[in-house]
Amino acid sequence: MSETLNKDVDHVEDEGKRDFIFLATGAAAGAGVLSLAWPFVAQMGKAADTLAAGSIEINLANVAEGQQLKTLWRGKPVFVRHRTPAEISAAEAVDVATLPDPQTDNERLIPNQSGAVDPKYLVMVGVCTHFGCVPVGEAGDYDGWYCPCHGSHYDTSGRIRKGPAPTNMEIPPYEFLSDNIIKVG
Ligand code: FES
Repeated sequence: MSETLNKDVDHVEDEGKRDFIFLATGAAAGAGVLSLAWPFVAQMGKAADTLAAGSIEINLANVAEGQQLKTLWRGKPVFVRHRTPAEISAAEAVDVATLPDPQTDNERLIPNQSGAVDPKYLVMVGVCTHFGCVPVGEAGDYDGWYCPCHGSHYDTSGRIRKGPAPTNMEIPPYEFLSDNIIKVG
């Protein structure tokens, strides 16, 4: 079952320079508040898992430049980051050969319906690949994401750069339904 989230923006926090949007989707509302303080995905209850099952639709136009939308998909947090030009440049400038899990920024993006890749929007499963904590955005040595559980630093493409996490944050299966709407799952 697919659920459109584009009109359900419920909460916007400005945590210093970090803007954070939480979408109160039917699934997320049923699961209770998903917060950055909630460290382990494994602690999600079965009901939350069930409610967040299936595919979800996200309207990218609701995510302003420099903001991150966070929602739930199949019991996992999903981040949609509208990256700034500086964040895109930083992600593209990396020498891929130096990465623990080599991947170009482009390889982490899905083409839209016309086959073009828009580097503005990065869609990821927001789970640290070490032991499953939820990383904090706009943090860490690479101004991407930082996992406070054991100190993993991810860059602005969500690639692991430093710390114990073995791999980049996962890109979920998703596709563009129109210029702005994506379907995850
Ligand atoms: S769970 Fe993220 S560094 Fe260990």
